[in-house]
Amino acid sequence: MIAEELEQEQNSGMTLSDKSVKVDEPLQPSSDRLDSVGSRGRIDITDLSVFYGHLQVLKNINLAIEPHKITVFMGPSGCGKSTLIRTLNRMNDNVPGFHVTGSVTIDGVNIYSRGVDPVLLKLRVGMVFQKPNPFPLSIYDNVCFGPKIHKMTKSKAEMDDVVRVSLQKAGLWDEIKDRLKESALKLSGGQQQRLCIARAIAVRPEILLMDEPASALDPGSTTRVEDLMVDLAASYTVVLVTHNMQQAARVGNKVAFLYRGDLVEVGQAPNIFENPTNPLTEKYISGKLV
Ligand SMILES: Nc1ncnc2c1ncn2[C@@H]1O[C@H](COP(=O)(O)OP(=O)(O)OP(=O)(O)O)[C@@H](O)[C@H]1O
Ligand SMILES: [Mg+2]
Repeated sequence: MIAEELEQEQNSGMTLSDKSVKVDEPLQPSSDRLDSVGSRGRIDITDLSVFYGHLQVLKNINLAIEPHKITVFMGPSGCGKSTLIRTLNRMNDNVPGFHVTGSVTIDGVNIYSRGVDPVLLKLRVGMVFQKPNPFPLSIYDNVCFGPKIHKMTKSKAEMDDVVRVSLQKAGLWDEIKDRLKESALKLSGGQQQRLCIARAIAVRPEILLMDEPASALDPGSTTRVEDLMVDLAASYTVVLVTHNMQQAARVGNKVAFLYRGDLVEVGQAPNIFENPTNPLTEKYISGKLV
C-alpha cells in the first residue's frame, strides 16, 4: 500500500484492511442516530494539558462543547488549534511522545480511559481535514467504506440508502448521483471536500471535527461548505478550526480563542468579535497580534 494511502487511513481514522472491530465498548454507536436530534455529543474538556515529548502545546484547557452548536477554535498559527481538535478523537495517539493530562469526556465518558477503543471513538467523532483526502476508490465506495468495515448495514439496498442520505446531507447528491461508480479523484476540490464530509457522516457520528475545511476552496465552494456546517449542526456537534474571522462570525455559535497553548477567551459569536474582553483577543481580531 502506498504511503499516501496509509496517511489517508490514519487521517480518516479508518483502515482499508481493518475488518476486526470490537463491538462491546462503552462508546459503541447506536443504530438510530443518522437522523436523530437528541442531546448526545457533549464534550467536556477539563484541565487538559497536551504534550509532544517535553513540549507542552496546550495548557490547562477548560471548555464545554455543546451538542447541536458550532464551536470554533481560533488563534494564530502554532497556538495549538489542530492539536486540540485532534485530541478530541485521539487522532494524535500515534504521534511519538504525545500525551495528555486532565480529561476529555464525551457524554460523561473519559475518552482517554482504558476501556475506550479509539477505532469506535472515531465512529462517534468524525473528522474532516483542510485538504480533501478521498480514497482512490469510486465515489460510492468512499462513502460506504466506513459502514462496510463496521458492518453497519444488512443489505445492498440499506447501503445504497446510507450512501444516498450521506451524499444528500453533504449537498453533493444532485451533482454526482449519476457518477457513483466514477473515481472520487475525478471530482473537483470542493466536491471532494463534500465527499469527505459525506464519508465522515456515513458512519453516523455524533460529533464532527473540521480543521480548516474550507481554506483550500474557492468562495462558492466555501459558501456551500459553510451552509452545510450550519445544516449539520442541527444533527451533530460541530467543532471547527478556522483562520477566517468572517467565517467564524457567520457560522459559529461559540468561539474559543487560543494563544500559545492557553485558552484566552471564550464567547458567543459575534459578541467575541464586537466586544472581546481580553486585550489579546482584541489584538488578534484587529490583526495586530504577531
Ligand atoms: N506531531 C507533532 N510533533 C511535535 N510537535 C508538534 C506536532 N504537531 C504539532 N506540533 C507542535 O505543536 C504546536 C501547535 O501546533 P498545531 O498544529 O496544533 O497549531 P495550529 O494552531 O493548528 O497552527 P496552524 O494555524 O498553523 O495550523 C506547534 O508548536 C507545533 O510545532
Ligand atoms: Mg492547524
